[in-house]
Amino acid sequence: MPKVGRPVEADGVSSGPWWRGAVIYQIYPRSFVDSNGDGIGDLPGISAHLDYLVDLGVDALWLSPFYRSPMADFGYDVSDYTDVDPIFGTLEDFDRLVESAHARGLRVIVDWVPNHTSEHHAWFVNSRSSRISAQRNWYIWRDPAPDGGPPNNWQSQFPRVGSGWSFDEPTGQWYLHSYLPAQPDLNWDNPAVVEAMSDVLRFWLRRGVDGFRVDVPQRLGKDRAFRDNPGLANEPLAGFVGRRYDEDQPATHEHLRGIRRVVDEFGDRLIVGEVYILDQRRMTTYVNPGDELHLAHNFTFLRLDWDASAFRRTLIELEQSLDPAAWPAWCLGNHDHSRIASRFGADGRGQERARLIGLLLLTLRGTPFIYYGDELGLPDSAVPPDLALDIHDRDRARGPIPWLPTSRVGLGAGFSRVVPWLPVASNAEILNVDAQAADPTSTLSMYRAILRLRRSSTALNAGPVEYLDGAREMLAYRRRSDFESWLIAFNFAVEPRLLEGVQGDVSDNDVAFTTIPDRPRLRMYRRRIMLEPLEGIVLRQHQGGGA
Ligand code: GLC
Ligand code: CA
Repeated sequence: MPKVGRPVEADGVSSGPWWRGAVIYQIYPRSFVDSNGDGIGDLPGISAHLDYLVDLGVDALWLSPFYRSPMADFGYDVSDYTDVDPIFGTLEDFDRLVESAHARGLRVIVDWVPNHTSEHHAWFVNSRSSRISAQRNWYIWRDPAPDGGPPNNWQSQFPRVGSGWSFDEPTGQWYLHSYLPAQPDLNWDNPAVVEAMSDVLRFWLRRGVDGFRVDVPQRLGKDRAFRDNPGLANEPLAGFVGRRYDEDQPATHEHLRGIRRVVDEFGDRLIVGEVYILDQRRMTTYVNPGDELHLAHNFTFLRLDWDASAFRRTLIELEQSLDPAAWPAWCLGNHDHSRIASRFGADGRGQERARLIGLLLLTLRGTPFIYYGDELGLPDSAVPPDLALDIHDRDRARGPIPWLPTSRVGLGAGFSRVVPWLPVASNAEILNVDAQAADPTSTLSMYRAILRLRRSSTALNAGPVEYLDGAREMLAYRRRSDFESWLIAFNFAVEPRLLEGVQGDVSDNDVAFTTIPDRPRLRMYRRRIMLEPLEGIVLRQHQGGGA
């Protein structure tokens, strides 16, 4: 494989694996660019816009599923793992995308959905055809409980679905689906399943992908005795203490070690898992051993309220839970959660908070993942009830990117020449790419600038992090290397607040970055400076400059 990605060693940033120094950008293919005018984004659309990602300054892209699928869960219900759904293009389009990305130094990570297939996958069609079919045991079939009901109390992750079991009349048994009935769970205790899914990995690895985002890895192992869960919680561990028997079992870790061995056959590739466990000590058991996942998304962090001390506590707990040899990964949005600008925008200040959060994401120790559109500060799309598509109310986070103002090009906003499959974000008129690229004070320009700063800084890429004692509504940390020292601070309050702990004198020249482009001049009071409301700031600290 040709060497791709920016040569991180060359600027002295890091000599570890490529993904430690990388910034990864998630693309939801339905919503990036529609190249053929059917209202739905596609692979050729992405290929044609890779320079946008190069200009942004990211190192890799992660593509949410583009495989053949009936789209009951918008691609997370796969009916053929080794083909591209015609909505998105062809395998040749995929190869071209990888080739063009690599030619630009961008790596490509694809989604891999191992816990379940579509009910229309040939494996399941065979499996449900009879009790003695060759692939019956590829899925999880059980006899009815004595009262004729489902075998146990496991629930689907989607509250509207209810029970995690569906009854199959013709064969008189129930099958397990952790999500929709149209998404039957595979039986990972069957070696034939492990082999078939490993071949799926090899198929894409041979096509040149640089890694995988693993969908719900914690689900791969289930309690082998199928015990009832204590309680019916279907929110992942929200307010839930104690064991759940339908995920995070010892078998889960066995399966992940096997998956890692397959990926390691190909060298320098990445597996990052959507480990949706809202307990950082348990979540980190997926990366600490070193022979399971390389990285795990941290949903405890993603789900925090707007509270500096909660952020601080969570960040410190993560550092304490993580093995020194392991590496953090950060994301503050994805296709399953309301966008940052909306989540934190009830008072109309979502844009400012989105900038603050962007700076935080890109300056923490670890590998950041940017959800497409967050670099524009996009709010959720307004999706009227009659246009709602998703069973779990996630449409609003999945709106297409506005490339151009709607007043100029209509509702498609440069994403599509027709009306898009979901409405583009509200505010497209102002927040579109074209307008923001031309405005040096825009959120997009801000992301570009931070990514430039990050790339040139050993401390930001690889240096340790030291969290400072937080004044109320303030989060602050240092990142250092042998050559530089940064003080990075965030004022979560909507009033000015004093930042303590500044070393030496600082002046306006030491402001390497701020989320408030027109901030007043720095005012320094005895090692304290005043931060503007909702400001995030990066200050250059002079080494040895009086503590
Ligand atoms: C993951 C995906 C989500 C999907 C679910 C089932 O949580 O991110 O979109 O619905 O898995 O595959
Ligand atoms: Ca299209």
